[in-house]
Amino acid sequence: MKKKILFVASEAAPFIATGGLAEVIGSLSKELARKGGYDVRVVLPLYSEIRQEYRERFKFIGNKTVPVAWRNQYCGVFEYALNGVIYYFVDNEYYFKRKGCYGHYDDGERFAFFCRSVLEIMPLVDFYPDVLHCHDWQSALAAIYLKSIYCSTKEYANIKTVFTIHNIEYQGKFSLDNLQWLFGIDGYYQGIVEYNGCINLMKGAIECCDRFTTVSPTYAEEIKDPYFSHGLDGIVRRNESKLCGILNGIDLDYYNPATDKALFANYDAKNVAPKATCKEQLQRMLNLQVRSDIPIVAMITRLVDHKGLDLVTAVIDEAMDCDMQFVILGTGEGYYEHYFAELASRHPQKVATVIAFNSDLSRQIYSGADIFLMPSKSEPCGLAQMIASRYGTVAIVRETGGLRDSITPYANGGNGFTFANYNAHDMLYVLKEALTLYADAQKWSDLVSKAMNSDFSWKSSAVKYAKLYTDLIG
Ligand code: GLC
Repeated sequence: MKKKILFVASEAAPFIATGGLAEVIGSLSKELARKGGYDVRVVLPLYSEIRQEYRERFKFIGNKTVPVAWRNQYCGVFEYALNGVIYYFVDNEYYFKRKGCYGHYDDGERFAFFCRSVLEIMPLVDFYPDVLHCHDWQSALAAIYLKSIYCSTKEYANIKTVFTIHNIEYQGKFSLDNLQWLFGIDGYYQGIVEYNGCINLMKGAIECCDRFTTVSPTYAEEIKDPYFSHGLDGIVRRNESKLCGILNGIDLDYYNPATDKALFANYDAKNVAPKATCKEQLQRMLNLQVRSDIPIVAMITRLVDHKGLDLVTAVIDEAMDCDMQFVILGTGEGYYEHYFAELASRHPQKVATVIAFNSDLSRQIYSGADIFLMPSKSEPCGLAQMIASRYGTVAIVRETGGLRDSITPYANGGNGFTFANYNAHDMLYVLKEALTLYADAQKWSDLVSKAMNSDFSWKSSAVKYAKLYTDLIG
């Protein structure tokens, strides 16, 4: 008998993606299904922005009425199979026919509807999982509703829950008076979801779940500390016996420089030479000076504080005195968008700034650059450093979260460069070390091949999730 796993998430690649969460849902479910022994299914909201090419192939399964506290709402269910995984899409146009997945005034109600639907559609699709695996605050209520409303019903009684924190910064906080009329949670359970005078859905899920995980071993330690926990360290420590950290992988079929159609040329670890073409074309496209011997340092990031951009702005002019080019791609806070646009105008032919979210361009940068900079203040896992490494672009990271668990220092025989303290000159120091090594072609190419051969597959991490499920259900 296959073990039945149901993922609950607010996004999943390739259907809808705003960040790393989507990639993890798409690629981890696929890997578990491929492993065998698991019937993996995923529930998502049917956002109107889900890519049309998929949408038109969805199969309508049925509909029912779902309670959202005192309201009754229409809930349609669509199904689609991909990579051995069955996806369910929960349809309600009032909640999900909007621009963007998040940031609406009624996100609390939207995801309350979504989570309630997850439990309500189980009889309709005839699938009661052994493990309900919820990801981030948007799906926290599914675990909370299971424990507070459904688990007294026979079919639901044996469902175990896992809750994964992809980023502890976003907790789903709402004012306490929403407890019953909006979320439909009985006052008896107030203590479970209440924290610091608010409803805190992430806290509620940590309390309710059988196990909770986060996306790297280092981050699992860090969130016990107030510096990283955004206020939840006490709750994390109290529930520590249920916690483990499992490092994310990346989808090696998708992120493959040998087959990636977005690239100017394809290559692999055994034949890296065509990467030079990727670099030359990237320089042309971005109006940089075309030179094969000048290292390109790249960043692909949301332009927000915790990505370490204040370190970059503090020393980038000093860094630009070195013989290097700098490319940055991303969108985010206005301050940084303007800063980097202005930096490019001050350093023509040496700096390129692209304020956009562009998947093809990102892979052209991963393949065309030499060095990838990721100096995050905190980073639960981070996928970009793994993608860059796979494309032969050597990562420089700060030793935090998954960055620390995936990139190890060159000086110790590792696959990249790291620095420990959140300090701009420490970062500049290792950047200069990397630039120096770049000048030594043989040593650099050895490091590139080490980076490309790092194991960022899902294989070993999927085994850890499998063990977690087995521990829970026997
Ligand atoms: C969040 C985290 C990021 C992680 C991703 C997938 O976006 O901020 O570090 O890689 O989730 O788990």
